[in-house]
Amino acid sequence: MEKLQALKKTFNSDIKNTDDSSEMLDNLYIKYLGKKGAINNIISEFVKLYPNQKKEWGPRINTFKKEVETALKNLQQKTLSSENVINSIDITLPGIKPHIGHTHPITQMKHYAENIFLTMGFKVVDSLEVDDDFNHFETLNFPKGHPARDMWDTFWTEDHLLPIAHTSTMQHRILKTHTPPFRVIIPGKCFRYEATDTVHEHTFYQIEGMYVSKDTSLAELIGVLETFIYTYYRYKIPYKIQPTFFPFVEPGLELLVEHKLKSGEKKWLELIPAGMIHPNVLKMAGLDPNTYKGFAWAIGLDRLVMLKYGISDIRAFHKGDLRFLQQF
Ligand code: DAH
Repeated sequence: MEKLQALKKTFNSDIKNTDDSSEMLDNLYIKYLGKKGAINNIISEFVKLYPNQKKEWGPRINTFKKEVETALKNLQQKTLSSENVINSIDITLPGIKPHIGHTHPITQMKHYAENIFLTMGFKVVDSLEVDDDFNHFETLNFPKGHPARDMWDTFWTEDHLLPIAHTSTMQHRILKTHTPPFRVIIPGKCFRYEATDTVHEHTFYQIEGMYVSKDTSLAELIGVLETFIYTYYRYKIPYKIQPTFFPFVEPGLELLVEHKLKSGEKKWLELIPAGMIHPNVLKMAGLDPNTYKGFAWAIGLDRLVMLKYGISDIRAFHKGDLRFLQQF
């Protein structure tokens, strides 16, 4: 009887002095309800009692045991809600799929377009993001002071380099390092000093293409471009071709595709400027224009993707608005 009374007292004071930590709770479990704990200790004495004593003390010990169990359970609830959140996570619940993001729609479509050209026998070469006057203008038949430079003049660094305004800046290097016949595409990021609107952006992507051989022709250029746009859009998207001027091609042309506006009105959008490589460009790279011919183009990748998905404003690509990006 004395032992049980003493135990009740110490238990009450232990419970009062607990700091609600799970460590303290564990210790109390071990001290009172553990195998070698105080209650089992009393029970081992209880078995030595006479039967009539057992009748009296059995229920009392049991009641105390239940009190201890209830008190510790209550304490456990308190500890779980007050201690760090980890303790209250139910690890048996099903998991939540994490949102891990994905590549940008322009990147996705760049890979898609690259694959189409790979099947047509082209190889992919990376572009630069900064280049010099020589590659960007001079070797593309823009002499110093030529007025056509104004269409591409962009930002200049103090050491006279420029963030490229077109991927054609790679043409001279390709011509110098490849022996015809060759087929190359050069995807790259371009920058322009541009007043932006729904179809013009200051930062955009191009996929330059070049094909040089002894016997290629304008018809072959048009054939390649038509095959590309039909494969890319997977239907016979209406297009037209009209002549235009670029110093590095002769003749120069642009391929326009039909663009449906939100209002339902149809408009032609310039998608692929192209042309037969100018003899001067071939000459500067050491190729005889009487022997070799070539064609080149630059697809406006952003516009290509806009038309694929019916995006009405080109500026959506670089805004970083997740509501837009998460759709792809
Ligand atoms: N570099 C021109 C631009 O960005 C586009 C272009 C026109 C590229 C004709 C070509 C070409 O390769 O042959 O505006």
